Amino acid sequence: MKEQQAYVFDAYGTLLDIHSASRQNSKLLGENASRVSDLWRRKQLEYTWLRSLMGIHVDFWEITKDALSYSLEYFEIDHENSFDELCASYLEVSCYTEVPPLLKSMKNQGQKIAILSNGSPNMIHSAVKANNLEDLFDAILSVEDVGIFKPDRKVYSLVERKLGIVPEKTNFFSSNAWDVAGASVFGFSVVWVNRFNQPAERLPGRPRLTVKNLVDWWEKEGRSRLFI
Ligand code: 2OP
Repeated sequence: MKEQQAYVFDAYGTLLDIHSASRQNSKLLGENASRVSDLWRRKQLEYTWLRSLMGIHVDFWEITKDALSYSLEYFEIDHENSFDELCASYLEVSCYTEVPPLLKSMKNQGQKIAILSNGSPNMIHSAVKANNLEDLFDAILSVEDVGIFKPDRKVYSLVERKLGIVPEKTNFFSSNAWDVAGASVFGFSVVWVNRFNQPAERLPGRPRLTVKNLVDWWEKEGRSRLFI
């Protein structure tokens, strides 16, 4: 019998469009909407790495709110008008258009599909539900089970612990180049979904394959056409 593989997806930036929260609130944010979104993401990630190094963990929801608070102050945007709206939108960020048909096709083929994310269980479940994806995943794995963020190896080891699939049989997809590096070093077979056409990080760990988006991956793997 062929040994089973898992297809494990990073959530924010890979399945979920992190900038959709700022786009939905562009009237509140004004001309700086996309800069706020970029800084919000940058601070969010920095806080995960810094807190992991400091050994002072809070969940990704607290981190996301702290990063938003910093970004609004940086751009001198009134917290009172925007903070709650942006937080509410982040809990329901849109997925990329190819995600529902892709996951449905994979599910129909009997693949084991999971999410492995920095997100807290509540955040991920909320976004998955908002996009009607809840029946498509075999597992939703959150760093909250290990109390430290990616790219700590304990996070990647959750796949084997929870799904029983060894790293070399785990196909991991991420748009985050640093996550690609961490997961590759860990031993996953990694697909870099390079949505933002970025250069590779100068870090150890190389992806098996680099694609523009998940449709590109599907086609490169020679599967039947996806209807989007
Ligand atoms: C995630 O873990 C890193 O934001 C990314 O979902």
